[in-house]
Amino acid sequence: MEIVTSVKDFQNLLSEKRNLGEEIGFIPTMGALHEGHTSLIDTSVREKKTTVVSIFINPLQFSPEEDLDDYPLNFEKDKEICAKHKVDLLFCPTQKEIYPKGPPELEEIGELGKILEGKSRPSHFQGVAKVVARLFEIVGDAYVYFGEKDFQQIMVVNDLVKRRRFPVEIVACPTIRQIDGLALSSRNVYLTEEQRADAPVLYRALNVGAESIVDGEKNSENLKKLISDIVRNESKGDLDYIEVVDSETFTPLDLLSDSGRKIRILIACKFGNARLIDNIGVVIP
Ligand code: PAJ
Repeated sequence: MEIVTSVKDFQNLLSEKRNLGEEIGFIPTMGALHEGHTSLIDTSVREKKTTVVSIFINPLQFSPEEDLDDYPLNFEKDKEICAKHKVDLLFCPTQKEIYPKGPPELEEIGELGKILEGKSRPSHFQGVAKVVARLFEIVGDAYVYFGEKDFQQIMVVNDLVKRRRFPVEIVACPTIRQIDGLALSSRNVYLTEEQRADAPVLYRALNVGAESIVDGEKNSENLKKLISDIVRNESKGDLDYIEVVDSETFTPLDLLSDSGRKIRILIACKFGNARLIDNIGVVIP
């Protein structure tokens, strides 16, 4: 595995691979790698000749009161994980490489980035879109692997790719969970023992919600109440939102009546200092 920090070295190595006719699989990350990240890496390694991972903690996507300063960092371990999972090229740029002229303007995003996470974390997706656009400019033609754990992020990135016509294909990969259903996340390290025991309630409640749709629930208010009652009764979590959206357009839905429509139920909840998100997909019967 080669490790590079400069954009120029990175692009030179990518050109060498392309000259050999190799397709590039790219996984952008902020490090603190876990099995959620490695599932994306493994998929790319299976599907593409060259797999490239970036590790860059993007300050633009954190608001001042968020956890940028405490964000878990462990470069040595991340490097080992990448090597073990057969990453070909690891790109670990400095702030200066990514933003040579200092902090840039945020990226414009569509309406779908302004609800849910976008509403609770103003400017978050504008910061994500900025760094992703910059990484796409650097990487060029590639298949880019993202996790469905951050479902709205995939929607924002797909919209960005369309609007800016980046020559990339986004590959959405399933959420990796612990045995009790908790979605893996770098932020799980903030959970106390008690909060860790509470947190699987999110996926439990999402599953009950999904089953109720399969059993014929057509009203999204009833669905949201069903899910929020479970979270409130079975944990000390502080709910931020529960929403049901169309999986393709990301429009919130009141009625769940169109048979065959693919929908997503999304949830965000705070357990102490850790704000966790999760989601589940359902097809309306
Ligand atoms: P980060 O949180 O490091 O996540 C990198 C990628 O790993 C994202 O596509 C995310 O959805 C995926 N991922 C995280 N947990 C997962 C899980 N449990 N199962 C499957 N995939 C999972 O997302 C970001 O970084 C940043 O916003 C980034 C896109 C790198 C821009 O800075």
